[in-house]
Amino acid sequence: MDQEANQIYEKLKNKLGKIVPDVELVIKSQIAVEINELKKQRNAVILGHNYMEPVLFYSVPDFTGDSLDLSRKAAQTDKDVIVFCGVRFMAETAKILNPSRTVLLPSNKAGCSLAASITAEDVRMLRNKFPGVPVVTYVNTYADVKAESDICCTSSNAIAVVESLHADTVIFLPDEYLAKNVANETGKHIIFPTVSGTVASAGTDNLLDVQMIGWHGRCEVHEKFTVQDIETVRAQFPDVAILAHPECSPEVVAASNFSGSTNALIRYVQQSNAPQYLLLTECSMGDNIAAANPEKDMLRLCMVRCPHMNTITMEDTRDALKLNRYVIDIPEEIRVRAFQAVDRMIKIG
Ligand code: 13P
Ligand code: SF4
Repeated sequence: MDQEANQIYEKLKNKLGKIVPDVELVIKSQIAVEINELKKQRNAVILGHNYMEPVLFYSVPDFTGDSLDLSRKAAQTDKDVIVFCGVRFMAETAKILNPSRTVLLPSNKAGCSLAASITAEDVRMLRNKFPGVPVVTYVNTYADVKAESDICCTSSNAIAVVESLHADTVIFLPDEYLAKNVANETGKHIIFPTVSGTVASAGTDNLLDVQMIGWHGRCEVHEKFTVQDIETVRAQFPDVAILAHPECSPEVVAASNFSGSTNALIRYVQQSNAPQYLLLTECSMGDNIAAANPEKDMLRLCMVRCPHMNTITMEDTRDALKLNRYVIDIPEEIRVRAFQAVDRMIKIG
């Protein structure tokens, strides 16, 4: 190993020596050297979402964080190339905010079940059905859906965004559970219009009472956690702090000690003193938190990995820079409209 690879290896060994075998650390340290060299050559910045696997997370990103954080970093960077170690909707958000940069997503399979749950046509249909009602769209959507929206939100600012509208009724898309959790937090009543063919109807609900209109999108990772999981863990560890991402069901969120964005969950562990912690979110993040907080007892409920985040590897990150792939392109007419919705969110904070 040359000197740079050795330095990276020592850093990774120190952080991850208890969870990642040595042979992997050696190989990945060498790949990290290649990535760093390509990063310099191409004047690139690497953004890494909190769900990246531990070796990638702790080696090559210039910035790590939740989706709101990384959107801000993407908007601010003056580098020529942004490599987004996350999923497609995140890379698209970077392109929407900073169109003159080349944005690369290391895997072309990094989708998201929430983003796949709704189309731009669905949003137009809802607007026709509920004229004048503002549309809030979770950032876990594609650019053409954002373009049909008034404002975006992430899990860290969804409540603030809804409240900022001062509207009697809000359409909140596409995550059913996040919408229900926001409705619970803001004291709003929510309905889910039935969709038949291209017509959405409000069913038997009285629209005069309705304050949030949702959609049946779900995160395929967070929908798997159940109240039964929580009860089972609490039976064994009565004082465990259970932390749930707001893409979990409202029942799971209610049975947990805390709910928040990936950054908020990380902060909770750093700033509190529970005898054990259990994270109800993508399980690589549990490894990343455990590595940063060796004194904390992180329980594992690691049967759930995001198959999309999981497609991003160190090898693909290197090849993204080497082969200039996969380039994110958004038609300018869509990007400009999507920008309005994302920028409005960023201004709220
Ligand atoms: P955060 O915005 O909390 O980082 O979450 C993104 C995501 O995809 C969660 O599944
Ligand atoms: Fe999408 Fe869920 Fe994966 Fe997040 S964890 S990227 S919401 S599928």
